Amino acid sequence: MSSLQAIRYRRGELLVLDQLRLPHEHHYDPVSTSEEAFDCIRSMRVRGAPAIAIVAALAHAVELHSGAHLSSAATTPDGTVAYIDSRLDYLYESRPTAVDLGNAITNLKNVVRDVDVQGQEAGAASSKIVEAYIAAAEEIFRKDTDTNKSIGAHGAAWLLANAPAKSAEGKVAVLTHCNTGSLATSGHGTALGIIRSLHQAGQLAHAFCTETRPYNQGSRLTAFELVFEKIPSTLITDSMAGALFNTRRERDHIAAVIVGADRVVRNGDTANKIGTYALSVLARHHGVKFIVAAPTTSIDLRTETGAGIKIEERKPEELTQISGAVVGKDGKVDTSRTERVAIADQTIGVWNPAFDVTPAELIDAVVTEKGVVTKGADGKFDFRDIMPERW
Ligand code: MRU
Repeated sequence: MSSLQAIRYRRGELLVLDQLRLPHEHHYDPVSTSEEAFDCIRSMRVRGAPAIAIVAALAHAVELHSGAHLSSAATTPDGTVAYIDSRLDYLYESRPTAVDLGNAITNLKNVVRDVDVQGQEAGAASSKIVEAYIAAAEEIFRKDTDTNKSIGAHGAAWLLANAPAKSAEGKVAVLTHCNTGSLATSGHGTALGIIRSLHQAGQLAHAFCTETRPYNQGSRLTAFELVFEKIPSTLITDSMAGALFNTRRERDHIAAVIVGADRVVRNGDTANKIGTYALSVLARHHGVKFIVAAPTTSIDLRTETGAGIKIEERKPEELTQISGAVVGKDGKVDTSRTERVAIADQTIGVWNPAFDVTPAELIDAVVTEKGVVTKGADGKFDFRDIMPERW
C-alpha cells in the first residue's frame, strides 16, 4: 500500500475499507446501494465526518449508474428528482451528529434541481439529472483532499506563529484525539492533516495520540496512520492527557491539542468525539492551544449554539466488549484472527454518547480550508468572512 485510502472509487464502483478490522486486516467491501452505504456508516466500517458524507454520496452515484432509478420507475425528470431525494433522505438518517452528510445532501439536492431539462424528452432529461448527480458526488470526493491540504497548510502556519512552546529548532509537539486522517476523509486528513503538514515541513517535534475510548479510533486508526507515515509519535490513554501536560509539556514542547469536528455551529461550539471537551479544559488549564480543524462543510450556520446539536448515543457493547487480533503465547499477533471479548459485566448499565460539545470559549482557533478563524475583540467567533455565501 503506497498510501492509506478509506475510499476507492471509479465510476460504477465504490470500495470502502472496513475500519472495524483495522489495524490488523485490510479488507475493502464493495458498496453499491444506499442500503449498503447506510449499514456501512451505521456500523462504523467507515466513519469520520467527511468520509461518511463521501461514502453516502458516492454509493448513491453507483446506484444511479447501475440504473436503479429506472427499475424504480423514476423515468420522468420529476420522478428522478423525487427518487434521488428519497434515497438521500434515507441516507441522512444513518448517523445524526456530523453535519457534512447533511450539507452534502443539501448540495446534491440543489444540483439535481438546477439541471435545465426544458424541452427534452423524458428519458434524456432523466439521464441528464442522473449524470449531474454523479458528477457532483464525484466532485465532493475529489475536492476533499485539496480541502484538507489547505487546512494542513493554514493550521501549521497558525500554530507555528502562535505556539506557546517550541523546541530550540522551532518545532512543536501536539496531542490529537480520535481519527481525523486519511481514514476519515478522502486523503491527508484535517487535524491529522495539520500534523502531517508540520511533519512534512520538518516542524513537528512529536505527535501524541489518545486511545479514544470506547471505539479506539486513536489506538486502532490514528496510531496506525502515524506509524504508516513514519511520524514520531506516542500513544496514551485518554486519562493520561492531564499528566502529559502536567509533567511533559515543557520538556516535550507541547504547543497544542488539535482535533477535528463533526459539527461547528454558528457561535463556534464544536461537537467532536467524546473526550474532546475534557481535553479542551485541560488544555486551557495548562496554557496549551486548542485548535479545531474542520472543512467548511463541517460548519452548520443554521444552529446557533452547541445546545442545538443532536448527540448520537451508541450501543452498550461498545463499552463492555472489545475486539482485537489474538496474541499468541509467544507474544506474536495473529493478524488472521480477530476476536471479540467481554471486558465488563455484561449487565451493567451503560451511557455511551459518541460525541461531546466543546464550548467556543475553550477553542483558540477554527482552521478551515479558507483560512483560520479566531475570536474577535468581543470574544466571539464570526464565520462571515470565510462563508459569506452561507451567512
Ligand atoms: O464516531 P466517528 O469515528 O465518526 O467520530 C469521528 C470524529 O469525531 C472526528 O474527529 C470527526 O468526524 C472529524 S474527521 C475528519
